Parts: sequence; structure tokens; C-alpha cells
Amino acid sequence: MGLVKNSGEVSDLNTHILEVFPDPVILLNKLREVIFRNQAAQDMLDIYVDRNLELSFRDPIVLEATDAVLNGEKQREIELIISLPVIITLQVRIVAIGPINQFFKTAAMIVFHDISSESIAERMRRDFVSNLSHELRSPIASLIGFIETLQGPAKEDVGSHGRFLEIMSNEAQRMARMIDDLLSLSRVEASERMRPQQTVDITELLGVTEELFISRVQRRSMRLDFDMDPNLPILLGDRDELMEVFQNLIDNAIKYGQEKTPITIGVGLIDCIPEIGGPGISISIKNKGEGIKADQISRLTERFYRTDKGRSREMGGTGLGLAIVKHIISRHRGHLQIQSKLNKSTTFTVYLPLN
Ligand SMILES: Nc1ncnc2c1ncn2[C@@H]1O[C@H](COP(=O)(O)OP(=O)(O)OP(=O)(O)O)[C@@H](O)[C@H]1O
Ligand SMILES: [Mg+2]
Repeated sequence: MGLVKNSGEVSDLNTHILEVFPDPVILLNKLREVIFRNQAAQDMLDIYVDRNLELSFRDPIVLEATDAVLNGEKQREIELIISLPVIITLQVRIVAIGPINQFFKTAAMIVFHDISSESIAERMRRDFVSNLSHELRSPIASLIGFIETLQGPAKEDVGSHGRFLEIMSNEAQRMARMIDDLLSLSRVEASERMRPQQTVDITELLGVTEELFISRVQRRSMRLDFDMDPNLPILLGDRDELMEVFQNLIDNAIKYGQEKTPITIGVGLIDCIPEIGGPGISISIKNKGEGIKADQISRLTERFYRTDKGRSREMGGTGLGLAIVKHIISRHRGHLQIQSKLNKSTTFTVYLPLN
């Protein structure tokens, strides 16, 4: 057992309990020296009694948090990524503990818990909650600001009321859309394991989608050019969900494409879907415009990710569209490919398997 030299024993019973603990546990004195470590700490982290913690952990965050606890804070919790040599994520909890015996008046206990397997899901959940709060905070702050202005400084300024109310209405609608999109996303996620079983005619579907966009396309002096294989087979799919995919991709092409340029929609049969293999239908939507930087492409399908938050918000975007698209395509066992040439064009290609 890792007891301390010349300093009286850390209670035998306590150390025995800590010894059988599967997670690494260490006790430190005020000088940050290890006065006890259990077997797991020695095996996994190479920690030895009497050494300063500094010799085992160079990470300044661990040392700083430990010092804070040794100097009066009750507890600190941090995450630490180390290579052992496999990379693992440890949740490190540092707790102040009372006098251990007459020699050790103050001390800290550090417990390490390996969260490598759960950390991805857990971190995604945490990021999601923090992103959502952030996204909702800005329209709500804007609404509160305008309400206060209408109640106070602009109360008598009837001329400005219409303009303020329009901004408020846009912000409220954006929040409503965000909630609809989030519900849509969770519906798709919930059913992602079940492959859809309806029959869908892609040619008919794109025809309906085109009609929805005619006036918006004209307003930006754009054009939808279709290049369709006339002999497309019927697919297994969910009509409403695929409609949502094409609507969002065409909506993006209109929003982020350059005015007065055409949007090209090519649909054809292919023998081998990239990444997943097997025959399928490919539907590509290409617009001209400033394009997307290579390092941003892989992030586009993350929830709330936008290359230019201000611009997307101005256009009423929530940054959820492509996250929904990705989940729907994955439910259809398909694949989404994004290609972009800076200052030239951007192409989103949806691949749907034939069987
Ligand atoms: N065709 C495109 N050209 C350039 N950038 C694009 C294109 N499509 C998407 N993007 C970028 O990807 C981001 C995410 O798109 P996504 O559809 O998820 O969200 P959004 O359009 O901002 O909002 P929403 O679709 O929820 O209304 C956009 O904000 C934009 O920065
Ligand atoms: Mg969009």
C-alpha cells in the first residue's frame, strides 16, 4: 500500500478502501507531494509516493486546479486528454479533504475517471445545449430590446412602430423556425435506424420542389436548369423527408449563390456510390458564387454551423438545415458529398441507393 515515509500512517482502513477502487486515486499534501496512490494510479498513470505531482503531470491546468484546491477551494473538475500511448480522456476531480493525521493538516484527493468512450456523446450533448442557448438568446434579447423601446423612448414615435414590429416579427418567426427544425431533427434522429419503405418518384418530387421556388428564383434573377435522366427507377424512401432535403439544398443555392446566375440540377443513375458503394441515383445541385473554404466543408452539417453567422441570420437561417439533410440521407442509407471551388461554385450531391 502506498503509505508515506516518516509521517504516520494515513488511516489503514481508508487507504484499503481507496486501494480496491478501480479508478486511479491519489492524495497530496500541501506541498503537492503524493502521500498516497492506489495501485490503479501507479499502473495507469505512473504515479509514485513522495514525488511532487509536477513530476507526473506537466499539464498546467491540472497543477493550477490542484493548487487552487490546496489553497482553499473545495473542489475542481477538469477534463484531461493524455496519451498512454493511446489517447484517452480523463475526468479529473480534485477535492479538498480535511486533516488526514497530525502531520497532514490540509490535503487534496484526486480521482481520475476514464471517460474516453462516453466523452464524444456527452460533449456533443453539452455543445448542443450551449449552442442552443446561445442561438435563442440573440433573438430573445432583440425582442426584449424592441419591446422596451416601444414602451419607452419610441412610445410616441408612431412612425417607427411599423419598422420595429417588422423586425420583432422576423425574430419571432426565426425562433419558431428554429423550434420546428429542432423537432424535425429529433424526429429524423429517432427514426434513423428504420429505413423508409414508401416508393418515391424523384422526377415528380423535383418537379413539385421547382414550383415552390419559382418566385424566389426570379426575384434573384436566377434560373433552375434541370438535366435529368428520363429513365429513373422508383426508389424506396420517405417522400416528405426527401422533399425537405431538396428544398433545403435549393434554398441554400438560391440564398448563397450569386445573383443572375443559373442553378444546375443534374439527376442520373450511377453504378457506384462514393464511400458506400452499390448502384444509386445521384442528384447534384450546383450554384455559382463565392464558395466554401475547404476547412469549413466538413463542419457544414454540424448543428448551428454557418460560415457567416451574421449573413445567415439576416436571411432568417438557423444553421440546422444541413444537419437535417445529413440525417435524412443517412436514414435512406445514402451519402452526401459537398464540393466547392472558391469564388466559383458549390455543388451538393445527394446519393440514394437503389436497393
Ligand atoms: N450553396 C452554398 N454555398 C455556400 N455556402 C453554403 C451553401 N449551402 C450552405 N452553405 C453554408 O452552410 C451553412 C449551413 O447551411 P444550413 O442549410 O445548415 O443553414 P442555413 O441555411 O444557414 O439555415 P437554415 O437552412 O436552417 O435556414 C450556411 O449558413 C452557409 O454558410
Ligand atoms: Mg439552409
